[in-house]
Amino acid sequence: MNSAAIEGLLAALEMLPDNATLRLNVARLLIQEGRHAEAFEHLNQILARDAANAEAVDLLVQASAGLADQGNPKNAPSDASHVDPDTKQDPAFDWNRAERDLGPLLPAPFVDGEESMVAPDVATAGEHEAYPLFDIERPVVTLADVGGLETVKKRLSESFLEPMRNPEVARAFGKSLRGGLLLYGPPGCGKTFMARAVAGELGASFLTATLTDIFDKYIGESEKNLHEIFQAARRAAPAVLFLDEIDAVGTKRSNLSGGAGWMRQVVNQLLLELDSMSADNDGLFVLAATNHPWDIDNALLRPGRLDRMLLVLPPDRPAREAILKHHFASRPIAGIDLKKIAARTEDFSGADLEHVVTTAAEKAMMESLRRGTIQPVSMQHVNEALKEIRPSTQAWLQSARSVVEFANTSGAYDELGTYLRARKLL
Ligand SMILES: Nc1ncnc2c1ncn2[C@@H]1O[C@H](COP(=O)(O)OP(=O)(O)O)[C@@H](O)[C@H]1O
Ligand SMILES: [Mg+2]
Repeated sequence: MNSAAIEGLLAALEMLPDNATLRLNVARLLIQEGRHAEAFEHLNQILARDAANAEAVDLLVQASAGLADQGNPKNAPSDASHVDPDTKQDPAFDWNRAERDLGPLLPAPFVDGEESMVAPDVATAGEHEAYPLFDIERPVVTLADVGGLETVKKRLSESFLEPMRNPEVARAFGKSLRGGLLLYGPPGCGKTFMARAVAGELGASFLTATLTDIFDKYIGESEKNLHEIFQAARRAAPAVLFLDEIDAVGTKRSNLSGGAGWMRQVVNQLLLELDSMSADNDGLFVLAATNHPWDIDNALLRPGRLDRMLLVLPPDRPAREAILKHHFASRPIAGIDLKKIAARTEDFSGADLEHVVTTAAEKAMMESLRRGTIQPVSMQHVNEALKEIRPSTQAWLQSARSVVEFANTSGAYDELGTYLRARKLL
């Protein structure tokens, strides 16, 4: 009975292998099915990363007991009557519902009208029991806080900020704000930061929904949650709804095997939400971000949906200087040569640069403790930090290279190609 659910979860797990909650749910179902050895494997994987995971420990005890029982011929696994009643009643995972949602039958996408699925008020939505679906904030960062990325800022301004500020003018020129914009690029280079800054510029509400989180916490309820988030954003208008890590949901439907039907439903729900954004500006703008745009279902990228792609590249030299300056600003420094550091940090992401500064600061702090007097951060600390930190964008640039080389038939990655060629990586 559980096998359809297990299959669905296993397929999802292949796409989200680091998702501990998903893995726990699989293990729980496997135990219910008497498949203790498999459960054991999954639990070990969770505990290898997080030895303190209490739920995993609990289940591991059950799985071990089950294995020991199975070793005893009198207790060969038979059916659900074998299951520990505690497991069956575990409130943390409603497997009836999961089975319904994960089963091979795909119910229609979720729309308003079913009373059991009424979206919560904005006021209460943020306080969703223990697991906030989304945060509503009014960011104070603006584009001026984002180092470098001048082209991205300019294009954001033209395609979005100005029309949003002057809707009448935009309308007169037939410019519609329908659809959304997809930021893509290597990790740590400011996609999330930029999205927040856009909302800051507009004084708009900013709702972030990290899609992997939605899967983490609401397996089997993802479509409903997606709908709730869009509804909350509409009510909070003018609002920027930011869908982070959208590759988690946008994964090509053609890549999904039958067992991953629930994922397909989520993609369909997202298409529905994007399509039902009104052609007239309803004060809602969708920004999405991904490190892997090439994994996204093309249907999501069609006109009226996430139809503009903006490349967020690793910071160039002046941008690196600006980012470093920003992070050094709040620390005691002596003799720091920003130009020199910037010259030595090609391919470092904004996050890597931040890491360099905090690591150097840590070293200065340790030295201060040793000497009993405050030692400001010096180039020596920075040099030591640089020895330990490798740029994190290179792996991404490598995979990007093969995409441009072999999968750029539509020209969607021309901008990326230009960058790679300029950097002599192509
Ligand atoms: N262009 C930038 N300017 C200033 N800080 C940046 C920039 N890019 C990244 N950072 C720093 O690195 C952190 C991680 O960036 P983030 O926006 O989360 O990256 P991404 O979403 O692209 O993976 C940010 O919170 C910020 O502190
Ligand atoms: Mg991000």
